[in-house]
Amino acid sequence: MSPLLIFCIIGLVHGSAIPSFRSDSEDAKLSVPEIVTKYGYPCEEYNVTTPDGYILTLHRIPHGKNQNSVSQKVAYLQHGLLSSSADWIISGPSKSLGYVLADEGYDVWMGNARGNKLSRRHIYLDPDKSDEFWDFSWHEIGYYDVPTMIDFVLEKTGQESLFHIGHSQGTTTFYVMTSLRPDYNAKVKAHFSLAPIAYMNHMTSPLMRIIAFWQKPISVLLNLIGIREFLPSNEFMAMGGNILCGDDSLTQALCTNALFAICGFSPKEMNASLLPIMSGHTPAGSSTKQLIHYAQEINSGYFRRYDYGMFVNLQKYGSIWPPNYDLKKVTAPVYLYYSKNDWLAGKTDVGRLYDGLGNCKGKFLVAETTFNHLDYVFGIRAREFVYNKLISLMSNH
Ligand SMILES: *[C@@H]1O[C@H](CO)[C@@H](O)[C@H](O)[C@H]1NC(C)=O
Ligand SMILES: *[C@@H]1O[C@H](CO)[C@@H](O)[C@H](O)[C@H]1NC(C)=O
Repeated sequence: MSPLLIFCIIGLVHGSAIPSFRSDSEDAKLSVPEIVTKYGYPCEEYNVTTPDGYILTLHRIPHGKNQNSVSQKVAYLQHGLLSSSADWIISGPSKSLGYVLADEGYDVWMGNARGNKLSRRHIYLDPDKSDEFWDFSWHEIGYYDVPTMIDFVLEKTGQESLFHIGHSQGTTTFYVMTSLRPDYNAKVKAHFSLAPIAYMNHMTSPLMRIIAFWQKPISVLLNLIGIREFLPSNEFMAMGGNILCGDDSLTQALCTNALFAICGFSPKEMNASLLPIMSGHTPAGSSTKQLIHYAQEINSGYFRRYDYGMFVNLQKYGSIWPPNYDLKKVTAPVYLYYSKNDWLAGKTDVGRLYDGLGNCKGKFLVAETTFNHLDYVFGIRAREFVYNKLISLMSNH
């Protein structure tokens, strides 16, 4: 580890342009509602404001293509780090979970967490000028955003509860919500965690290991220079691409995308013709605090609140260590899906989560050994390995 490396990591967050490689695919440039309606499905968009002033975008596919009334069963989908509601539709009809659930008779709602490019708005803070806007982690997403969106969905649909499906950070925010605001357990018929993230000390992502190794100096430095939005620079990602992936053009395209650089990819599940579309929609943005909070989890081995250092912790939490999230308070039925080749949701960590949850109904290891962290949303065979079983479990509730 050299000073050069830390310089590179600053480069990672200091750039101003989101990397993208040239694409002539139309879907890369269209919005989520434009893509969904292009494929013949109905789509609605809503703006929802959280109690602390963030304005979030919610997308809805109220029913399948060949139905004409809104479905009575509601499914709420929450994306992962650096992603957006686009994750659930990028692979297209009959492949992406958003469409698959709509075809199965669900009223599908797809949230967007604060700070991604669809929820980069606040009633008075300016994301381009205000550091305060970016002063949040996935803690605030779980505590404010997801409950606000769930309440909006329940009110709009007149239902009392819904199915919650999360991917990666979308599972973390579910555990934050239901452990700190236990009344939300009753609003969830069942939760499905795709690549669950709570404990992280066994994860193997090389880039996350580096960030975790340098977590303390990085946090100090970022605070000093006031970098709050995570924006990987073109130069840094291009360099990362060269180092990690050599010069094959497919792997280059993957390694210069921050999302794939962090999560890895499995060539077997990767549909190369979707890459331009993915690059048009990801990385969708986040705060650096989200990454740092995860880096703290990797280092501490705990699933707990943000660590501000002893003195500030004492002020904020009344103890020198951040309090743990109490997983026993997660009493909604939970199903976990994990896989062998996942760089972030390791088998040991998922096992510990399973043991700690208040009402875990099962954990399922994906049969395909090459299945990776992102294959739950983008994988060619996600339906075969994950969605079909998920849908049959949903019908039991
Ligand atoms: C949501 O807010 C955006 C930006 O303020 C606006 O352009 C859009 O029309 C709003 N959508 C709805 C459904 O109100
Ligand atoms: C890959 O994506 C393209 C474009 O959406 C699609 O036409 C093709 O069927 C996909 N291939 C596989 C194997 O899923």
